[in-house]
Amino acid sequence: MSKQIWARDSAVACHDKSADKFQRFYESDQTPYDSGFSYGRHLISKYFSPVLNELPEGAAILDVGCGTGNHLLELLRLGFQARGIEPSAQMRRHAESKLPQGTVRPGTILKLPFANETFDFVYAIEVLRYLDQDDNKVGLKEVFRVLKPGGIFFGTFVNQYALDGFAIVVGLRKVLEILLKKPRTYHTEFETPGKLAKTFHAIGFRELETHGTMLAMLRICYRVHHPFGGYCARLLEPYDAALSDTPFLRPLAGHLIGIARK
Ligand SMILES: C[S@@+](CC[C@H](N)C(=O)[O-])C[C@H]1O[C@@H](n2cnc3c(N)ncnc32)[C@H](O)[C@@H]1O
Repeated sequence: MSKQIWARDSAVACHDKSADKFQRFYESDQTPYDSGFSYGRHLISKYFSPVLNELPEGAAILDVGCGTGNHLLELLRLGFQARGIEPSAQMRRHAESKLPQGTVRPGTILKLPFANETFDFVYAIEVLRYLDQDDNKVGLKEVFRVLKPGGIFFGTFVNQYALDGFAIVVGLRKVLEILLKKPRTYHTEFETPGKLAKTFHAIGFRELETHGTMLAMLRICYRVHHPFGGYCARLLEPYDAALSDTPFLRPLAGHLIGIARK
């Protein structure tokens, strides 16, 4: 099996296995500071919400890789015409249990089941990181095709140089999996703001804004002790933009966000 196909398949298989865990993440965290997961999502939402404010009333929105459907539920409550696609049957099961029938369909970013120029806004949160570089390009071309002229894409990516050393951890995990002959878990595609700009411009997007959020070392604090992570996150939140979103520090942040306009 080629590396590309393995990445595609494992992206779905690992989420079939972890769907219940994802649902628990969304259900159990009472405040945004309870886990690295919820704090990361809380900071991402600070860039996501202003994009929603730019959209026309009742805008057509697509959530690509919508997972358990929690974001879609919120967008429907806000009055948007929101739909999702999700290739993992187990993730879809959770999404379908909370959303009106027909909101979510099976599908992949590699072949979006929609006509050209259908959506005002398309987003993919923590999705493209599981696909290899060539599939990232195919997927983003599909996003470009289904966006209306002037439409907006919002995506999150994994920073190659995130300060928690995640790229090193992934490299070591890969070596161990090979040495111990364990099945490989899933692919992680690493990006930099510069690499993203080249990809988006080559596809034809008019503009790309990148942002860094979450001081990556906070993930280590959460691993040491959740309440300690929460304490540090609360303390550093007012400074997060200064620590993660200046041009020099952006490539080192815990989450890399891309906001592109067609
Ligand atoms: C980390 S989860 C994120 C789910 C959701 N976006 C969220 O933020 O809660 C990644 C999701 O991407 C989905 N996925 C994997 N491969 C995909 C593909 N080729 N096209 C679209 N989604 C995919 C997975 O099944 C999974 O639900």
